[in-house]
Amino acid sequence: MYEQISHSLLNDILVELRQKSKPQNLQLFYTRLGANFYAIYSLFHTLYGNRPDFKEHLRNLVETLMRQYVNRPSHLRKMDLEREKDHNWFLSQKWVGMALYCDGYADNLKGMLSRLNYLQELGVNLVHIMPICDCPQGKSDGGYAVRDYRKIDCRFGTFKDFDKLVASMKKRDMLLVLDVVVNHTSDQHEWAERAREGDKTYQDYYFIFDDRSIPDIYEESMPEVFPETAPGNFTWDEKMGKWAMTVFNHYQWDLNYQNPAVLIEMLDIILFWANHGADILRMDAVAFLWKKIGSSCQNEREAHLILQLMKDCCQVTAPGVLFIAEAIVSPTEIIKYFGEDAINAKECEIAYNATYMALLWDAVATKKAILLNIGIQNIPQKLERATWLNYARSHDDIGLGFSDADIVSAGYEPLSHRRFLIDYFTGNFEGSLAAGLAFGRNLETGDARISGSLASLAGLKHALVNNDANATSTAIKIILLLHGMILSFGGIPMLYYGDAIGTLNDDSYLDDESKSTDNRWAHRPKMDWNRAMLRTQPGTVEYSIFCAVKKMIAVRKEIPAFADRNNRELLNVDNPHLFVFSRFDQINNSPRVLVVGNFDDEPQPLKLPPLQHMGFFQYELIRDLLSGETLHVADESLICPARSFYWLQA
Ligand code: GLC
Ligand code: GLC
Repeated sequence: MYEQISHSLLNDILVELRQKSKPQNLQLFYTRLGANFYAIYSLFHTLYGNRPDFKEHLRNLVETLMRQYVNRPSHLRKMDLEREKDHNWFLSQKWVGMALYCDGYADNLKGMLSRLNYLQELGVNLVHIMPICDCPQGKSDGGYAVRDYRKIDCRFGTFKDFDKLVASMKKRDMLLVLDVVVNHTSDQHEWAERAREGDKTYQDYYFIFDDRSIPDIYEESMPEVFPETAPGNFTWDEKMGKWAMTVFNHYQWDLNYQNPAVLIEMLDIILFWANHGADILRMDAVAFLWKKIGSSCQNEREAHLILQLMKDCCQVTAPGVLFIAEAIVSPTEIIKYFGEDAINAKECEIAYNATYMALLWDAVATKKAILLNIGIQNIPQKLERATWLNYARSHDDIGLGFSDADIVSAGYEPLSHRRFLIDYFTGNFEGSLAAGLAFGRNLETGDARISGSLASLAGLKHALVNNDANATSTAIKIILLLHGMILSFGGIPMLYYGDAIGTLNDDSYLDDESKSTDNRWAHRPKMDWNRAMLRTQPGTVEYSIFCAVKKMIAVRKEIPAFADRNNRELLNVDNPHLFVFSRFDQINNSPRVLVVGNFDDEPQPLKLPPLQHMGFFQYELIRDLLSGETLHVADESLICPARSFYWLQA
């Protein structure tokens, strides 16, 4: 849209910037800036228009976009053009991701280079390397307390190692996902240090208060993220003699986006990593970006405006780069991080499907898909050109983030059902073999989340300790069932390192003082490469899991209906243990795929006539896409084995 006020302002800014800079070929930059400027201006004006220094900040914003465009390497500019032409490229079923710590997985960045082949063997072609920026040792929150956004932590290596890794990944057609920790910095970041020394400019980068009067009002409505280890949302800084807002750990200071300088700094950092070759940026803790007295300080409208602004700006300088929203919030809130009221995503193209993740674990514990069915049905439709990141485990705890209303519809009582889930996964429920740990228990609300590796939560640890072959086989089935669900749902599946070889909880964090109180470290292990070798040895647990996951990945990539074009239909079947949906493909018109997951410990029948009646599934001949075998149908029912799943085609 052409709008006079914003464009005449832009013209002034460009005249000024052109006088300062060397001549460059900026034609593409200008086209994109022109296309996005009215949106950028409007968002910036909504957020900061009442400030006397508004124009100056807007000028700095445009200068940042232009400077980083000039810095953008030519091969990345070329990639931008390719991705603009093929703008739905990331919806394809050919992408399969894995999240890993570069030190946990391969010691360091150099080591990563020689471990890419393991990922390729499995079929992984999108790698989320967990935060690599410089962090204070011991007070790093696993990399999420950044001291210097433009420096690689020396424990991981150097920029030279990083560039080599990126170059090798590009050659292998592997995508790189990196974090941008947008919500907070370490209390040792230069900005925090300056604030501590009394520099008002940098105190304005954070939420700093002389006394408790304002913090106390905030606290009335703010929940706590880490109630056990970091209670409260403010921390007293002795040297500064003031309070800082610290929603996460005491050493993580929340950034103040009411200050446009903070937004511009962060945008510069986003573009810095985009220019270093990140294909996708994971925007950390985005639900927390805007703080408002009297609110929970999560999911505020302005948090969305900031993300939209970041997206619009990124599209000017590095349009090929995508954003992932890490917003682990309620289903109706998560969906908004794609952007609202638009055909195309306006904020983040990808969002963590935390709802699906939590619902899958509910189905594992209850052995029923009742809540899973209801919960998925109630996730609002997402936009086109937006996709889920589907995962079963990550480096974080599992929050039971489904809605109470859904729990009630499923026939449970919310409080006791959540309590049951915690008991189940911590192994405190009759018959449960899960070996999880309660995380972030809130004594006031009774809330808790769950830590533990996928395999340990699935019962593998206890099964192996008890030398119980049946239990081992069940645990493996659960592990595969969860992978089968995230690989077929629609979206980018994000595996977690170690899960494809059944990695158990790692208790060594208990010996490290800086980790012992945060049991998320139980599932952030060192990759055991000796165990990984067993993946080639039939009869081992590692072999059973690895080969099956590898097969699923290979098959997924061949099924066009598994691309995410909002082409999933949830099917109501009259068996509470089954989760059944169909995937269809309007574009190539390839046959539908019926996905059937059985969460029960017993085989369960799926009645086929109702499905055939719905007109899309002929059951005379049903082929299981994974085994390639034709399935036997007796009494018009298909029997799905215990804790198993099928991907079926007529
Ligand atoms: C994100 C990370 C989590 C971290 C938190 C604070 O949610 O995933 O590990 O503790 O942000 O940075
Ligand atoms: C909360 C936050 C999420 C963070 C997690 C860390 O769930 O919403 O962003 O990753 O805590 O445990």
